[in-house]
Amino acid sequence: MKARIAASILNADFGRLADELLMCVAGGADMIHLDVMDGRFVPNITFGEKVIATVRKLTTLPLDVHMMVEEPERYFESFAGAGANGLTIHVEATPHLQHQLAAIRELGCTAGAAVNPGTSLATVREVISDLDLLLVMTVNPGFGGQQFIAASVDKVARARHLLDEGRSHAALQVDGGISRDTIASAWRAGADTFVVGHAIFAAADPRAEFAALRTICSETV
Ligand code: DX5
Ligand code: ZN
Repeated sequence: MKARIAASILNADFGRLADELLMCVAGGADMIHLDVMDGRFVPNITFGEKVIATVRKLTTLPLDVHMMVEEPERYFESFAGAGANGLTIHVEATPHLQHQLAAIRELGCTAGAAVNPGTSLATVREVISDLDLLLVMTVNPGFGGQQFIAASVDKVARARHLLDEGRSHAALQVDGGISRDTIASAWRAGADTFVVGHAIFAAADPRAEFAALRTICSETV
């Protein structure tokens, strides 16, 4: 299995968005990760439909939209219409998780559920068959460039077990503080999709960072 890298453009230079996306394509990103924040579910505000549509015009890579918003269902249609390929919602943000995941699939997008560091994996156990992606947050969401929470490694291993036990083919994604120092432990624990922001955009050679991260995984058993 090959490690998949989702480039988070949260820390990209938005004045040079087209170039930043070209760099991600040239580096070999598997998808673009778009962090939508509403200033309620998380303290920060980022962007919504308009930026998703703009990115859609600039790349053919799949768009993986991470919705850090309350009442995410209010935006499913507009984000899908703007060109999102996958929508990931937080289990903490909705009491009707199964219903919302089904609604995402009905729009033709892949459905993801995200759990914050303080949230138990028990919250997703009942919806395993509704998931195309499980996102285990490795930082508390809200900002790029935070430090990876080491205790997440054990949680990723338990998430891997949960998916395998449920015979699920859902992707197991990690997000937050993924770098050359942390990717191996998450990979070894069973993650297959890595959201990377700061480690790419702050690298001396951003384009080369994708291969460097993938090589670490392929050399880690
Ligand atoms: C954090 C976001 C992340 C963030 C990851 O709330 O969900 O996607 O951009 O960025 P780094 O790699 O900088 O931790
Ligand atoms: Zn994210």
